[in-house]
Amino acid sequence: MRTLIKNAQVVLPTGIVAIPVLLEGGKIADLDPAPQITADVTIDATGLHLLPGVIDDQVHFREPGLTHKEDLASASRACAKGGVTTFLEMPNTKPAAITQAGVNEKLALAASKSLVNYGFYIGATPHNIEDLKTAQRTPGIKIFIGSSTGDLLVDEQSALERIFAETSLPLTAHCEDESTVRANAARLGDQLTLADHSRIRDHQAAMIATRRALDLAFRHRHRFHVLHVSTGDETALLADHQGLITAEVCPHHLFFHIEDYERLGSLVQMNPSIKTQDDNRRLWQALQDGLIQVIATDHAPHTWEEKQQPYPQSPSGLPAVENSLALLLDQAHRGACTLEQIAHWMSDAPARVWDLVDKGRIAPGYDADLVLVDTHRQQTIQHAQQETKCKWSPWDGVTLTGWPVRTWVHGEEVYREGVFNTAVRGREATYDHARGGYWATQD
Ligand code: DOR
Repeated sequence: MRTLIKNAQVVLPTGIVAIPVLLEGGKIADLDPAPQITADVTIDATGLHLLPGVIDDQVHFREPGLTHKEDLASASRACAKGGVTTFLEMPNTKPAAITQAGVNEKLALAASKSLVNYGFYIGATPHNIEDLKTAQRTPGIKIFIGSSTGDLLVDEQSALERIFAETSLPLTAHCEDESTVRANAARLGDQLTLADHSRIRDHQAAMIATRRALDLAFRHRHRFHVLHVSTGDETALLADHQGLITAEVCPHHLFFHIEDYERLGSLVQMNPSIKTQDDNRRLWQALQDGLIQVIATDHAPHTWEEKQQPYPQSPSGLPAVENSLALLLDQAHRGACTLEQIAHWMSDAPARVWDLVDKGRIAPGYDADLVLVDTHRQQTIQHAQQETKCKWSPWDGVTLTGWPVRTWVHGEEVYREGVFNTAVRGREATYDHARGGYWATQD
């Protein structure tokens, strides 16, 4: 089937151009095809911008085992609505994905349920080095250097040294220093409030763990992606990347800060914790400066009831896949960034970090994973309208300008103006790790 998208402003890596885009066989077949070209479906996208679909390289979709919080059907609907066409999911499900069989099980579940494309990391433990060495069909290995939701944790130096020395897949980690976190918690005692979350998981905890991971990556010359950078200080470490290091920031670390606990309570309780307004500013600057290359959500839903428990029983995590692109489009509307930057941070850069084949750009031969956005549309986020199973958002009541309106996965329309085509199934992402990642694929 041939689809012709006409009259859109098309966001290419080289700039924004008003050209028709031809889709065929699930691929972008041509840009600016000959005027006499015919198509089965012609879409008039006057007034809209066409972007590459968002690739969210850090989500927690809870299946198997925790499907009262989220599942691959509800999460992938949320993705389609938010313009996310590919997700890479973290291993802290139940059971955790720490073997090839565990990864394969998730791939099979996603094949039957997911409306968008998918991939699953394999999780590191102190004892599964052989699984990590032989793992396939995965973007890479996730290490919890600090513990978070679930029981995955690798913080003994000898285990970390082996993972960095003996595996060849790209590595990524949750960087909060476990002993600093425990010492802070012990010092603060039992009478805790939510604001203590950012004192327990403090700047030092993040800084120590990130510095430790970078040291391992440099000594072993191993590619490493720093997940959810939360402090301005860590960004200074990222300047010396040595062609090995990439980093990511999440919307909640860009837009929330410790004063927000008063207003939003546990809805903004996250690991790593939210920090200060100065950190928000410095993280944004690090994106602008190219020290951080990727924006991802760390979408981590928990039920409303779970979140309402008093701290520290309240779990850490918030949902974001259906609002992340809109949050950034709103920043573009305010003049804080450009649409080309958004396409880089949310599509092209994650595709290159994880060696995703044919993804992340609007270019001939690439997969037709696309999102049309209306940069003028104003819409207010509301708990009840969320597709995520947990049905809440920390951005409830926030009005944003700039929203996705229509999403394609491999050339199939999966979402249009509030309506899903639930017959669409995404495909397993494929990786060409020989490419060598982000720095090896500079234009
Ligand atoms: O706050 C968090 N929640 N951070 C993580 O790294 C994990 C996540 C979860 O899975 O709930």
